Amino acid sequence: MARISAPELLHKKEKGEKIAMITAYDHAMARLADAAGVDMVLVGDSLGMVIQGGSDTLRVRVSDVCYHGRCVAPALERAHLTLDLPFMSYQVSAAQALRSAGRLVQRGMAQSVKLEGGVRSASAIRAIVEAGIPVVGHVGLTPQSVHAMGGFKVQGRDAATAARILDDAVAVEQAGAFCVVLEMVPSELAAEITRKLQIPTIGIGAGASCDGQVLVCNDLLGLDARFKPRFVKRYAELESVITGAMAEYVSDVKGGQFPGTEHGY
Ligand code: KIV
Repeated sequence: MARISAPELLHKKEKGEKIAMITAYDHAMARLADAAGVDMVLVGDSLGMVIQGGSDTLRVRVSDVCYHGRCVAPALERAHLTLDLPFMSYQVSAAQALRSAGRLVQRGMAQSVKLEGGVRSASAIRAIVEAGIPVVGHVGLTPQSVHAMGGFKVQGRDAATAARILDDAVAVEQAGAFCVVLEMVPSELAAEITRKLQIPTIGIGAGASCDGQVLVCNDLLGLDARFKPRFVKRYAELESVITGAMAEYVSDVKGGQFPGTEHGY
């Protein structure tokens, strides 16, 4: 089965088909996401938090994303693979952005790359698209700007910032991106942007009107029970399932119930 292409994802909007996107960072999770029918798998720079244990995404490097891309890509039979351009891998110049995007394709096995920012990132998006690499934009809450934004907060609550986010989304489309992530913006603003753009919008904390949705796999699976922001729907509570199973294993080993004769040679 062929993997879904960027043009196919773009056309889902005119066909009225929603796009389901999920993050994955390793082969096992990517295989399950693909089997579940996910359209797009994202190796997000969220790996800085959920894999590396950081408090933000700022220390992730292009080589980290490439490594996880190479773990994920061979597991995908159908889903499209997008890799994130990490902090300071594209902000310096369009030439730097193109070089980094090229590495994500050649060494990370990306089919497309994602980068944050609208108006300020338009020249980078244009350079990457002109080189034949499909781009996913990302506006609203842009986690790589966490210090400028004063935390991971909803963006666009007042008229001035809402207008700026709309301008950003339009700039992303005009620069040639084939879809755009809208993160943590009011549902009404996301609906307006979705109506205005020809390219699909993929929401995270942006309401139901977006053309698609994305969630971090660890969040939707409940791998960390302590983390439950409003925008996450938990489809499983795997923290308790996994710790329960591991505790049973520990008890079996210590009590001599594992391994049994059936596990030996
Ligand atoms: O890094 C990431 O996982 C992301 C998604 C949450 C959109 O950017």
